[in-house]
Amino acid sequence: MKIHLVAAARPNFMKIAPLYHRLKAEAWAEPVIVHTGQHYDFNMSDAFFRNLELPDPAIHLSVGSGTHAQQTGNVMIAYEKVIMDGDRPDLAIVVGDVNSTAAVALASVKLGVKVAHLEAGLRSFDRTMPEEINRIVTDALADILWTPSPDADANLLREGVPAEKIEMVGNIMIDSLEMMRQAIERERYYDSLGLVPAAYAVVTLHRPSNVDSPETLRKLVHHLVSAAGRLPLVFPLHPRTRKNLAALGLLDALESFPGVRLVEPLPYIPFMSLIFNCRLVVTDSGGVQEETTYLGIPCITLRPNTERPITVTQGTNRLCGIDQMEEKIDEIFAAPIQAVSIPALWDGRTANRVAASIHRFLHLL
Ligand code: UD1
Repeated sequence: MKIHLVAAARPNFMKIAPLYHRLKAEAWAEPVIVHTGQHYDFNMSDAFFRNLELPDPAIHLSVGSGTHAQQTGNVMIAYEKVIMDGDRPDLAIVVGDVNSTAAVALASVKLGVKVAHLEAGLRSFDRTMPEEINRIVTDALADILWTPSPDADANLLREGVPAEKIEMVGNIMIDSLEMMRQAIERERYYDSLGLVPAAYAVVTLHRPSNVDSPETLRKLVHHLVSAAGRLPLVFPLHPRTRKNLAALGLLDALESFPGVRLVEPLPYIPFMSLIFNCRLVVTDSGGVQEETTYLGIPCITLRPNTERPITVTQGTNRLCGIDQMEEKIDEIFAAPIQAVSIPALWDGRTANRVAASIHRFLHLL
């Protein structure tokens, strides 16, 4: 059975990796990696394939950057051509919530190709986020919806998705983390930055709502520099963020501030090594909210909402605005946030459950 594993952007690669390795071990499965090319820099893409021990993608659509419509449209056209030219899978698996996720789901269903969505059902209820639109579209189209947490099941049921299409399988990101744990623990990337464990914070910010408006970005830089006065900050810069900082002339100022270490986007293993050993995280990423909850590390998410509420109700994640960030850091210094418990099925065995689900779906019993 040919199974396309579709990946597009940095947060997708750690979601397909455990599943690729798991399916590769099955006689009935032929997993084929399809890279849409939404992320194309070495640091945003190839480095992840190497760190996660993935082969080069068998199919590369090379769509690159563009407006939302261009990116989505180009992926639809290119993936439709793959199918029409004869490379038709028995199942297309899409992950996460990037433009390519929705685009491949749309192109597939119109050609009668079955689609499964891994990480289905997450909702921020904020339709100004492009990712929320991608989630809603993808979940409306998918034949199988694999969810990471009970809130996601509830969202889908409320939207009228039939219960038999939904299966809670847990969090696939935790599979990647556990698969690479030894390499992450050996890495000690913080040494190369002159930092010691538990005495620095990691910052990752790239959402348009935080980094696209000059006024917001200036405010962000002001608070980061102020926070760096009490705790060194390591800030791996997403290309979007770097570009916008440079355009405002803020890059050099930020870089020259003694407590700030600006670095290139990091491959999975050094990045996770930084997270494993930090005192706290400031982020607007989705995946980092989950990883810190699993590891019990305090996480400040600079967003008004999250599609991953379980990281707040059960985990170490706290939402706040940019102006409240320093106050939140003070609170964490006074009393580190404790997790209530690790969410159910975030256990490193999600790929096994997904493989079993595919087996059932394709009637291979
Ligand atoms: C995308 C996803 C977002 C995800 C994020 C992770 C959508 C709508 N957004 O946002 O959900 O959290 O990836 O990183 O799908 N660029 C490079 N090199 C690259 C990739 C991008 O220079 O390898 C530049 C692009 O030219 C663009 C900017 O970075 O100007 C943003 O890239 P884009 O793919 O539009 O969205 P992200 O912000 O990365």
